[in-house]
Amino acid sequence: MAGGTEAAPNRWQRFYNAILYNTLAPLYNALDWLTLGAWWRLVRRALDYVPPGGRVLEIGFGPGKLHVALARQAALCVGLDLAWGMCRFTRRRLQKAGLTSRIIRGNMLALPFPAGTFDTVVSTFTLSGLPDGHMAMREMARVTAAGGRIVLVDIGLPRDGSRAGIFWARLWARTGDYLHDQPALMQAAGLTVTTFEEYGPGKHIRAVVGEKPTNAISGRAAHFVAK
Ligand SMILES: C[S@@+](CC[C@H](N)C(=O)[O-])C[C@H]1O[C@@H](n2cnc3c(N)ncnc32)[C@H](O)[C@@H]1O
Repeated sequence: MAGGTEAAPNRWQRFYNAILYNTLAPLYNALDWLTLGAWWRLVRRALDYVPPGGRVLEIGFGPGKLHVALARQAALCVGLDLAWGMCRFTRRRLQKAGLTSRIIRGNMLALPFPAGTFDTVVSTFTLSGLPDGHMAMREMARVTAAGGRIVLVDIGLPRDGSRAGIFWARLWARTGDYLHDQPALMQAAGLTVTTFEEYGPGKHIRAVVGEKPTNAISGRAAHFVAK
């Protein structure tokens, strides 16, 4: 699983994408109360690393709880998800909260934005669903502005070798997820890893932040988001 070399998602991931994320968005949303708020506590850690203001892209926003929080604090917020169901659910959620964010149905392997469009790119529990971590990371790095950052929250094997953590991480992998080495992927994409924080049961969840050097070429950016 580590590194992910398969070209196409496995059958678990195909199931999640076709059924769970597309037609059962409310069920996925219920994960939060089914886990007595534990899920949200894992996800919300991403907020600690997103500076207020700026142009923010969230990839794989799911039912949109984090996206609402991002839309509240960003100067400009855009969300991209592969599933129509999640896009509909999150649009409604934003409407109810009286917030605006541009919600786009799309694939993180081919982001429909020019290089350097965003100051911060955020993604929680989405990269682990893709076999090709390098390709996904390259795309995220491409759309990040020079001096900007990528904030990831996802699963991984705990560095201290905790048995509980290894058990949990392997359980995720058993149900179709890929245990990527996010810091290595960030470095390969030209980012500097500034944060690596492990937490959650057996420390098998990690928040990883990678910054794009200020001298990186950004390309045309504001043009897209201003539309
Ligand atoms: C496990 S859910 C995570 C949802 C939410 N971020 C969270 O932390 O609860 C993965 C999300 O990523 C989306 N997704 C899966 N593959 C994707 C892709 N290639 N491009 C964009 N979004 C994708 C799914 O539709 C789903 O909403």
